[in-house]
Amino acid sequence: MRTQIINQAEKVIASTYNRFPLVFEKGCKSTLWDVNGKEYTDFVAGIAVCNLGHANPEIAKALLRQADLLFHVSNLYYTLPQVELAKWLVDHSFADRVFFCNSGAEANEAAIKLARKNSYDKGNRDRFKILTMEKSFHGRTFATLSATGQQKIREGYDPVLSGFDYVPFNDIDALKRKMSESVCAVMLEPIQGEGGVICPAPEYILQVRQLCDQAGALLIFDEVQTGIGRTGKFFAYEHFNVEPDIMTLAKALGNGLPIGAMLAKEATASAFQAGAHASTFGGTPVITAAALAVVQLFEKENIVERCRQVGVYFVEQLMSLKDRHELVEDVRGIGLLLGLKLKISGAPIVTECMNKGFLINCTQENILRFIPPLIITREEIDALISCLDEILMASSKVPSTAL
Ligand SMILES: Cc1ncc(COP(=O)(O)O)c(C=O)c1O
Repeated sequence: MRTQIINQAEKVIASTYNRFPLVFEKGCKSTLWDVNGKEYTDFVAGIAVCNLGHANPEIAKALLRQADLLFHVSNLYYTLPQVELAKWLVDHSFADRVFFCNSGAEANEAAIKLARKNSYDKGNRDRFKILTMEKSFHGRTFATLSATGQQKIREGYDPVLSGFDYVPFNDIDALKRKMSESVCAVMLEPIQGEGGVICPAPEYILQVRQLCDQAGALLIFDEVQTGIGRTGKFFAYEHFNVEPDIMTLAKALGNGLPIGAMLAKEATASAFQAGAHASTFGGTPVITAAALAVVQLFEKENIVERCRQVGVYFVEQLMSLKDRHELVEDVRGIGLLLGLKLKISGAPIVTECMNKGFLINCTQENILRFIPPLIITREEIDALISCLDEILMASSKVPSTAL
């Protein structure tokens, strides 16, 4: 059954992903089952998406209830779930207005357009540049891959969109050197995810805010990965006591359903008037009803605090792995966005974990990334740590060239 599906997929699906040979059929909380009935504990959560776990019954109920009423009417009209979700986001963040779309890249596209439109409306036609960070990841559309500070993502697509420049993350002097009157915005992930789970010095984010204020540039936080509780705060910017002008969300907002959002303060958001931007499916009732159930569940079940506490426990266990294994170089991250930097390639470790029933991820070649559902239990973490213990022990006996 599994081989048949994979063989068929290899014929008909575009080859843009290197997929693992697994075909999943169902999930519950942090557990997934493949079509052969094999069970896996999921420390990937669809890449920081299913923060409330798989097949959450309350989200499913909200989705089905709305599907029974109305799927879609276009943003030419109002619908209640869209308004309720926007109101929730505005009430719980720095922002005054929300633009809904379908993905992280699309939310970042909106942020980039809004930053440029602000300059245009003020008559600053030469102020169009956006400074982003090396090792950042903002998406795969043309504007967002142009914003992404990784050459490998832009490779093959020249000429990419002009008007972006890159600086090292967590280096305020480098940012100062690139700041000029042509810069309309600085865009960054408050904690870099794909770049290798990199937390900046706490004062750095504040310094970026101050620099933007002095220069008259907008500050955009891409919280597509860090948002919705992942770091032990609902939004990662709360760790730094700094507010952006624009923030983007996606991934966990729908817990697996496609939704993106761009949030902004009124003074900035007002540059988007009728006709300035649009998305047919943005904020459609079925998806916003489900996303509303997501954020309400966060409050009802105190998920953010739970994530913070379990994250501290997970870090302790990873630190103890580091103490026991020479091959571990560093433990990094916050909440349940955690990384283990290895002195060897991470890919064989990911495969070994998979064979033993654990899904983990690797980024930047040698950083194991752990981004489980925020409802992961201490027992599930203990089981993964024992598995990693065994694998690292065995790996330390293999000559490094063989790994
Ligand atoms: C920080 C960040 N921004 C943007 C994106 C792109 O999101 P999407 O794949 O939904 O377009 C991602 C995806 O991994 C991300 O991590």
